[in-house]
Amino acid sequence: MSSGISVGIITVSDRASAGEYEDHGGPALRKACEGYEWQVGAEAVIPDDLEQIQRTIRAFSSQGCGLVLTTGGTGIAHRDVTPEAIRGIMRVEIPGFGESMRMQSLEITPNAILSRSLAAIVDTSLVIALPGKPSGAVECLGFVVGAIPHSVKLARGVPTSC
Ligand code: MTE
Repeated sequence: MSSGISVGIITVSDRASAGEYEDHGGPALRKACEGYEWQVGAEAVIPDDLEQIQRTIRAFSSQGCGLVLTTGGTGIAHRDVTPEAIRGIMRVEIPGFGESMRMQSLEITPNAILSRSLAAIVDTSLVIALPGKPSGAVECLGFVVGAIPHSVKLARGVPTSC
């Protein structure tokens, strides 16, 4: 049965957006979302640019994406600004998502500590910032998937009991 979740997927990468290499993160997340029976309503590949990240998240939210997933730019490289972009437009952060993704990812790779992955409410959408490595993005989504339907309803302002 379909959960009715409409998803926007944003790959944040200077090199993928410039066509220097093929985007694998977006397609990997699309496949995972389809596996969860969510509808992928919008996709974009954009550079590590704070304002462009903010504009794209807001555009996807206003198009009806209750869930917006970003992949990339959560680390500590000079151009990594995805967390700052989201924090600049969010109503609230939901720290448990980042904590849970990091804790569970640390069992797979010590480098998981480098990701500043997070979730937040922006406008009427749940936004989750996932790491850029395709397998890492899919793993992290899987670690928090159980909390997503309820969070998406709350983000929309739908009264809901737990
Ligand atoms: N988390 C999981 N589950 N699996 C991974 O392979 N890669 C890490 C980390 N989180 C990884 C992960 C690495 S190597 C980095 S540098 C950070 O995510 C940040 O990645 P980003 O800057 O591409 O977002």
